[in-house]
Amino acid sequence: MLNVENLSVNYGHIEALKNVSVNVKKGQICSIIGANGAGKSTLLKTISGLVKPVSGTIYFEGKPLPKKAHKIVAEGIVHVPEGRKTFSGLTIEDNLLVGGTLTDKTRLTANLEKQYQLFPILKERKNQFAGTLSGGEQQMLAVARGLMSEPKIILLDEPSMGLAPLIVNQIYNLIGQIRESGITVLLIEQNAKKALSICDYAYVLENGKIKLSGTGKELLASDEVRKAYLGG
Ligand SMILES: Nc1ncnc2c1ncn2[C@@H]1O[C@H](COP(=O)(O)OP(=O)(O)O)[C@@H](O)[C@H]1O
Ligand SMILES: [Mg+2]
Repeated sequence: MLNVENLSVNYGHIEALKNVSVNVKKGQICSIIGANGAGKSTLLKTISGLVKPVSGTIYFEGKPLPKKAHKIVAEGIVHVPEGRKTFSGLTIEDNLLVGGTLTDKTRLTANLEKQYQLFPILKERKNQFAGTLSGGEQQMLAVARGLMSEPKIILLDEPSMGLAPLIVNQIYNLIGQIRESGITVLLIEQNAKKALSICDYAYVLENGKIKLSGTGKELLASDEVRKAYLGG
């Protein structure tokens, strides 16, 4: 569904991605794991058109992706950035409506209702400012805001970052539900254990290069992954 081919990205003289190829299959959860600075966020930013590659091509459903970020969203790709980036001075409902800016107005209300069903806590607090939410709730809001654009694929950048284990489990349950609803997921994580446990297929990114790939199960069992990412 999403094919990244030989992608290279530089920031000045820093080579953030070197010849990276990744294949995300429709209906699956594909994960990219890697340490801080490996290039994970750069990969997502390049897919969503926020960063321009030096070389390489990204295909979505067989066609090269458009260059402009809003056109990429219109193709059905939505990016939930690292650190949530919710609008703290807007209400929860207004945050969600921002996510629906590009969708048909007639479906906005139905989409809002869908998010409120998936995330009851957001419904309870829909008129509060987003800044009053906890970290986990803000992560849920960021995901729900992404879903408002009716994506075919959702790109999640470290959704578990900074959250307590119980909340991380809630977020991961939601990621499972998103896949069940037919939306493909590209999940970026430093939290290798959680990501590998839920994903269908995964890649290990190290210093801007793909080091290994395999099913979540294979990578969880790999000595190399265990030593470097799972604490032995
Ligand atoms: N805007 C930027 N300008 C310069 N260097 C950057 C920028 N963003 C990221 N980098 C560098 O690119 C590399 C990859 O960063 P990033 O993609 O954020 O990694 P990750 O998300 O895996 O932590 C790092 O060396 C980082 O310092
Ligand atoms: Mg990052």
